[in-house]
Amino acid sequence: MTNYSLLLQEAKGLLLNTALDKNTTLTKVCLLLQSTVEHYDWVGFYFANEVERTLHLGPFAGIPTDHTVIPYGKGICGQVAVSNENFLVDDVSAQDNYIACDIHVKSEIVIPLFVGGKNIGQIDIDSNVVNAFSEQDTHFLEQLNAAIADSLF
Ligand code: SME
Repeated sequence: MTNYSLLLQEAKGLLLNTALDKNTTLTKVCLLLQSTVEHYDWVGFYFANEVERTLHLGPFAGIPTDHTVIPYGKGICGQVAVSNENFLVDDVSAQDNYIACDIHVKSEIVIPLFVGGKNIGQIDIDSNVVNAFSEQDTHFLEQLNAAIADSLF
């Protein structure tokens, strides 16, 4: 069982290291989460280009994806760019508007990253098991994104 409050403290510790640039810090956060939480198989950030209405892959941990640019509205990530709301998918095979990055992925969670009230991107986590995510993940990732917004943006 993951100790989420300890994990949040560890992630906040990484965010305090001002010697590192933003991308290096977020890569370390992705690696920390992916290596600590058993059901986090792919962890990454997408950032919004508001003019083009596209999301762009940022730091991530896990296998590389072909989907480095996602239009607003497309897939789970693109829907969150439009809705500004958390999206927890218990079973990706039941979703019509879904972009498969890896055939092994069974469930997904996407939590928007707000800076000054504006949705500037999101953290996206894939799991290779169905029903992997719960309210605990939602709460943890909301707190993590709030800490990232405070420290890095
Ligand atoms: N599955 C996502 C695409 C991103 S990959 O999971 C890395 C989606 O449907 O938007």
